[in-house]
Amino acid sequence: MRQVRTLGLLGTGVIGGGWAARALHFGIDVVAADVKPEMEAWIRGAVANAEPALARLTSAPLPPKGKLSFTTDLNAMAREVDFIQENIPEQLPLKQRVLAEVSRHAPADVVIASSTSGLMPSDLQKDMVAPERLLVGHPFNPVYLLPLVELVGGAKTSDATIEAARRFYTYIGMHALKVRKEIPGHLTDRLQEALWREILHMVNDGVATTGELDESIVYGPGLRWAAMGTNQIYHLAGGEAGMRHMLHQFGPCLKWPWTKLEAPELTEQLIDRMVEGTAEQAAGRSIRELERLRDDYLVAIQQVLRQFDIGAGKTLKALETRLYNEHAGKAPAIDADGPLRLVDTVVRPDWVDYNGHLTDSRYFQIYGDAVDVLLRRLGIDEAYRAAGHSPFTAETHVRYLAEVGPSESVHVTTQVLDVDAKRFRLFHRLYRTRDGVLASTCEQLWLHVDTRAGKVAPMPEAVLAPLSTIAARHAKLGRPDEAGRGIALSKG
Ligand SMILES: NC(=O)c1ccc[n+]([C@@H]2O[C@H](COP(=O)([O-])OP(=O)(O)OC[C@H]3O[C@@H](n4cnc5c(N)ncnc54)[C@H](O)[C@@H]3O)[C@@H](O)[C@H]2O)c1
Repeated sequence: MRQVRTLGLLGTGVIGGGWAARALHFGIDVVAADVKPEMEAWIRGAVANAEPALARLTSAPLPPKGKLSFTTDLNAMAREVDFIQENIPEQLPLKQRVLAEVSRHAPADVVIASSTSGLMPSDLQKDMVAPERLLVGHPFNPVYLLPLVELVGGAKTSDATIEAARRFYTYIGMHALKVRKEIPGHLTDRLQEALWREILHMVNDGVATTGELDESIVYGPGLRWAAMGTNQIYHLAGGEAGMRHMLHQFGPCLKWPWTKLEAPELTEQLIDRMVEGTAEQAAGRSIRELERLRDDYLVAIQQVLRQFDIGAGKTLKALETRLYNEHAGKAPAIDADGPLRLVDTVVRPDWVDYNGHLTDSRYFQIYGDAVDVLLRRLGIDEAYRAAGHSPFTAETHVRYLAEVGPSESVHVTTQVLDVDAKRFRLFHRLYRTRDGVLASTCEQLWLHVDTRAGKVAPMPEAVLAPLSTIAARHAKLGRPDEAGRGIALSKG
């Protein structure tokens, strides 16, 4: 199966738009295909709408954004892409027909994944050419922020297809969950539907409003579910004896029963109650406003979970590790003669202050990222730190010389000024990439620390030698005028 550089989308509605935004953000080109030409404007709008939240998801350096193109010729799209994600309406005969047609044009090593919420892959691959490359890759809305994608193979799906899909989805920051057996609704929608049926019953029976039922989740179980699923939570509910005690204690309730899994009749009265209830909850806010609110908290939750390396935060952390490693891998060799260009990044919208310029703390972050790349190049990584050594910043002097606005591309170059056995001194320059204007400089003193002893300690030769080599080469660049300057009120 191919390495994916270009993603083809079949159907560019809500879900197609979400796939486009996610893939483009992580550097994949997208060819979007839909039968309706007016969907081009729609998908471009959907990508633009997703951007503010996506831009805040991670501060890690990103590859250049992918390019988006649109066509109404589904077969042309199929001929030029490396991976196809189908997102057309949830109707089996329609999906079967379109997948069969597209499979005649897509080379056999192009994986074709369906976003279907509940159809079975064995049914979808029935009339396809090379059906072994078909799987279900079921995402969740908004696809650009929720990492979960369920992978389901059909009777003819090959292991290589599942593996290729897992690789691609992981690359674009997702958590690929392989479903062992194809069943209608896969895993997550079955669980969601069980809850949904109960909600409809309780609204139908006049037991609760839509708002009350939502409160019953968001103030309680919903908070737990963001990081631990029902099973793990119930294991904790059993106290020291865990799940066994939990089942003994609450097992009898299963027979009472608390739930009625048969769905109620969707009468006009029930529909009205659901619609009026959710309109009241929206309190005049438009769908767009609510989407923005949802996106903002989804970003914030994932960033919090990242600190605990759990759930979606674990996926985000893994994505960032890859992005940082890839970025470090692209940095110039440390024996280059000029200053080292260690970071290329884009100013995220939330990095600007109330004056509309890159805010102080983000300069520290960007210079910190540059040093991280240098340290990795010198072999200072997790293992090095775990072994009890790490460089610590002792002093920093940042000068702000030109304004840097949101969405501006910037890059940092680093010159090693001095090195001795336990210390090194760096001089960074931050440029606006667009016009090459020097926007800031930063001088730093770093100490090499034995973290177990809590004392400054000599660097091992493996680090000291290459660092000294860089310093010797950089000495030829001359010492920057600003190096060693203090802060003073200039005269006149
Ligand atoms: N909406 C969700 O929350 C959600 C979540 C996960 C999965 N899904 C699944 O994703 C798929 C798409 O759902 P959606 O909500 O994006 O639907 P949608 O109605 O928003 O978009 C469907 C798109 O397919 C296009 N289309 C219709 N026939 C086509 C054809 N023959 N060829 C090409 N394009 C065609 C339509 O013009 C439309 O743009 C469904 O299978 C659905 O079950 C939806």
